[in-house]
Amino acid sequence: MRTVSHDNKKNSLILGIESSCDETAAAVVRGGTEGLSNVVASQMNLHANYGGVVPELASREHLRNIVLVVREAMSRAGIGFDDLDAVAVTEGPGLAGALLVGITYAKALTFGCGKPLIGVNHLEGHIHAVLMEARQRAERPMELPLLALVVSGGHTHLYLAERQGEGAWRYRNVGRTVDDAAGEAYDKVAKLLGLGYPGGPWIDALAKRGNPQAVPFRFAQIKPRINRDGTVPQNKKAPARVEGPSFDFSFSGIKTAVLRYIETNHMRESVAARRAKLAEHPEWKPGSDDAAALCDAQTLDLIASFQHAVVGNLLRQTFAAAETFGARGVVVSGGVAANSELRHRFQAEADRRGLPVAFPSLALSTDNAAMIAAAAWQKLVAGEFASDDLGPAPQLRLGGV
Ligand code: KG4
Ligand code: ZN
Repeated sequence: MRTVSHDNKKNSLILGIESSCDETAAAVVRGGTEGLSNVVASQMNLHANYGGVVPELASREHLRNIVLVVREAMSRAGIGFDDLDAVAVTEGPGLAGALLVGITYAKALTFGCGKPLIGVNHLEGHIHAVLMEARQRAERPMELPLLALVVSGGHTHLYLAERQGEGAWRYRNVGRTVDDAAGEAYDKVAKLLGLGYPGGPWIDALAKRGNPQAVPFRFAQIKPRINRDGTVPQNKKAPARVEGPSFDFSFSGIKTAVLRYIETNHMRESVAARRAKLAEHPEWKPGSDDAAALCDAQTLDLIASFQHAVVGNLLRQTFAAAETFGARGVVVSGGVAANSELRHRFQAEADRRGLPVAFPSLALSTDNAAMIAAAAWQKLVAGEFASDDLGPAPQLRLGGV
């Protein structure tokens, strides 16, 4: 097993490659901390026509973009392939065909250059986006364990993250969505309301103009899946003895509630008119007055209430889990972590509880490859390299329950 000496690790250069969903990304990171480049080719406009990611189109676009994106990342970093210490690539979870493009490219590259290859779990990447930026700011490392909320278009997970000294990170998946991811709910509700894609930035911007208390949304109680001490009931058929609260999420109910609200309040016509107007003006940005003028007060109130409820639910589950599992800090990452109300309310709650909370910069909240290179750094130091048979793992999990 090849390991990197302590002296060299601070300067080791990793090229990260990410292609799990609809962003082709490459980045060079030095020593797991210093981003030398971060290039993202987004396919958002392509998928916007369909209101969601179309897997076949995503793979085709990754194929088109990958060589240029990697070249651009290397050139912005001002280095050549020979300077690299390793190449890291997302192995899952994600779309099989999309992952395959990044993995095949990374394998060919490492084979050609004689460099080691590191496979990274996309979800671990999201957590390391926050840790990497905290190191960049030279902050005192957050005390462990951390409670990490990874919340995006494909995922809503709570992880308890800890580490033995300088050793490998360990994760325990203490909460997850039982149906839709939170970002998926944002995207679906935005679609129901005739807003643009992806829905998160639209709802985020428009919610500021509505009354968050106007429509009371409720979340179903989910049966606990794990015991308070973190153990899992052995007999799945008789989970009645599970103690304590559940930290799982469910977002499909609120989407149905929004649909029902639209129907009972006869909002269908105004939704259709808004959809048509936005199709004529794809250049209108979510926060613009032009876009906001398409929404009447009732729509703005519905949007604000939806967001208030979703953020409230994320906040309650996250802080309840942090308390139950004795977390010393909270990190939030993934596309929905870009949400302004979420940041504001999580910060206020953390301050109230005297817990540190950290978010990635907006650029590293959504999918990127700097987070993949950052998460790979510890693996490089430990000599954890991928084998030749590395392949896409669409359902890859992070940590046990
Ligand atoms: O992490 P990401 O780029 O890709 C996935 O791994 O899914 O997250 C994309 C998701 C989309 O569902 C998008 O609507 C949501 O993040 N999103 C937001 C915001 N910006 C992006 N959701 C709420 N508020 C935002 N400002
Ligand atoms: Zn992601």
